[in-house]
Amino acid sequence: MPAAPFPERERIDARDKVLGATAYAADVQLPGLLYAMTVPAAIARGRVLAVAIEGAMRVPGVVRVLTAADFPPLLSAAPPGNGQQAQPTPATEIAYRGQPVALVVAETLEAAIEGAEAVRPTFAGQPFVPLIDSPGTTREPVKPKKAGDAQAALAGAATTVEASYVSPAQHHNPMEMLSTTAVWQDGKLIIYEGTQAASPVRTAVARSLGLDPAVIEVKSAYVGGAFGQKGAIQRQTPIVARAAMLIGRPVKLVMPRAQIFHNATFRPKSRHRVTLGADAGGQLAGIRYDADHQQSRKGTFAPSYHESPPRMYGVADYDGTAANVRIDTQDPGYMRAPHPHPAHFAFESAVDELAHKLGRDPVAFRLAHHATIDPISGHPLSSCFLNECLTEGARRFGWARRPIAPGTMAEPDGTLVGWGVAAGAYPANMTATIATLRIGADGSTRFAVTGHEFGQGIRTVIAQLLERELDIDPGRLEIAIGDTAAAPQHTTAGSWGTASVVPAALDAAARMKAALAELIGQRRVSGNLHRQLAAVRRPFLQVEVSTVGLGQDASALDRLRAGGFAVAGPEYPQFTSFSYIAHFVEVRVEPRTRRVRVPRVVSVADCGRVISPRTAASQVRGGVVMAIGSALREETEVDPRFGGWLNADLADYVVPVNADIGDIDVAFIDHPDPLLNAVGSKGLGEVSMVGAAAAVANAVFHATGTRVRKMPLRVEDLL
Ligand code: MOS
Repeated sequence: MPAAPFPERERIDARDKVLGATAYAADVQLPGLLYAMTVPAAIARGRVLAVAIEGAMRVPGVVRVLTAADFPPLLSAAPPGNGQQAQPTPATEIAYRGQPVALVVAETLEAAIEGAEAVRPTFAGQPFVPLIDSPGTTREPVKPKKAGDAQAALAGAATTVEASYVSPAQHHNPMEMLSTTAVWQDGKLIIYEGTQAASPVRTAVARSLGLDPAVIEVKSAYVGGAFGQKGAIQRQTPIVARAAMLIGRPVKLVMPRAQIFHNATFRPKSRHRVTLGADAGGQLAGIRYDADHQQSRKGTFAPSYHESPPRMYGVADYDGTAANVRIDTQDPGYMRAPHPHPAHFAFESAVDELAHKLGRDPVAFRLAHHATIDPISGHPLSSCFLNECLTEGARRFGWARRPIAPGTMAEPDGTLVGWGVAAGAYPANMTATIATLRIGADGSTRFAVTGHEFGQGIRTVIAQLLERELDIDPGRLEIAIGDTAAAPQHTTAGSWGTASVVPAALDAAARMKAALAELIGQRRVSGNLHRQLAAVRRPFLQVEVSTVGLGQDASALDRLRAGGFAVAGPEYPQFTSFSYIAHFVEVRVEPRTRRVRVPRVVSVADCGRVISPRTAASQVRGGVVMAIGSALREETEVDPRFGGWLNADLADYVVPVNADIGDIDVAFIDHPDPLLNAVGSKGLGEVSMVGAAAAVANAVFHATGTRVRKMPLRVEDLL
């Protein structure tokens, strides 16, 4: 039986965070701590000829300068099993502007910065390809995604739309900078780092530095913003670890924001050509969608843009192609809703274009396409309450008052008003999980489990589950996550954290209850679980559980323990699972400057059963804010003469601020999906954002009659 709705509560870590009491990785203080600063490459491609360090060594306080010669050669062969690739350390080959060529370690941060500026590398530059539109790119198609016969369906369509859309390169800018603090002591390496992937970091560092993973612990109790940037293995981690090993003192590097732009993974620029057909009755019949994105020379972030569009509207005929376009850049990677966000900007804009061409209301048009089957696998969808999201969202927004023709809602002062809608989906994944639950007679409870807290509220979700199942003291519940010493840690990403921890928490609670019942036997005890243990003079009870995703066997646990991926979904053996959302957006376009404002948004999500209502609503608000940033503000630009990123700071990379954000009304369908887990919960973190940028663009079209097919949509596009 799926659980009843969960109560509203504050996040269990909210108070500490608001008070500034939460310790993030870079807050760690250690005796004898040294500070480090990287020296970035000043060419876009080529070789390091020499690194002159004498000037840096003369800076008072500088302890050591590490260059390529201080690192073991990079292991290029694939790692055994499912382990992580080695992360490149400073090398003489330069693949992108900003690549670290040296690390200066000093007694103070100031000395480290001054030392880094005094290092004099010399380079031999080579020609490079800076942009996906430049000559000299290498195009690598990947396997197409096909269902039915889209070509025939489109050839027979009564109405078609065909258009190209562009999504820009973008960088995460979380409040917590990238940082690594490494301690090498008694043959053990301890790494404090904000990461979504503590165990993969362990294996990657072991491989980069030729160490046994067993001597490494990675600690990441809290992460101050992530969304993929901290899911990849960070470039600086093995470099800082090596410095700590060679010097024999703890070393801390907090990467300056400009270097984060150049070294972290980022959302690559992508291009999308969408063709939609409708039959004589106005039903969608046939989708063709070709996508490509910018890729580094050796990068592996796949152009998987066909995850979610085929799972939206029950269209049997789908023809999707995708390609990497290799240029000279750092590795792109995951950024919130990595593929569905740009894909749905394109696809949901195209759906709006088709509805408009057919003279149909875009909500009614979507409602006429309820999906029950996944055309890619042929299996049913486990649940899809998208139509409920659309209906409830339209009601809350007041959509019924919307005139269908664009440009007809102007205010007396000339302000153009537009209402737009778009929808989204995101795979409902899950991963293998390992947990230990210990309840003490002293009132304490400790749950040590796989997973990372990066602001998405996973600790609160865990507390909701354990406190529902077990009569324990909530004030003394410790949840140990993000720490390789607590449990093997998966890369917490892809919105799979909650759905992965649900089975582990429920299983652990059930085993605890069984173990306690066995311990107590026929004795009569009363009170909460702690008092019951005290009554039978047992200091504590501990249970261990491991769970795998649907359709997985125990090998998933081996992959988890080895620091690899152990993810199942969204195609499960019997069905396919996605979370869904509908966004409704009002824009106001200032008549002279054409400045676009977003005074209100209504978003209604289907993420199965909501476990932590307050956290969930915050997730959706955050997703909408990120989408508004993407739709109207954020683009990282390249200077093609030099390569590298031009606007590598928060003055020029413009993110939304409070003045950009109006009212965001969030609601949930809250229908459990019992096929996925006993609570019926699906992921939420990423679907929150999917489709919202298209809703902004569709609202701008409704306000102005101008269709902008690129993000960010700017004033000059509307003049
Ligand atoms: Mo996410 S972009 O899967 O952290």
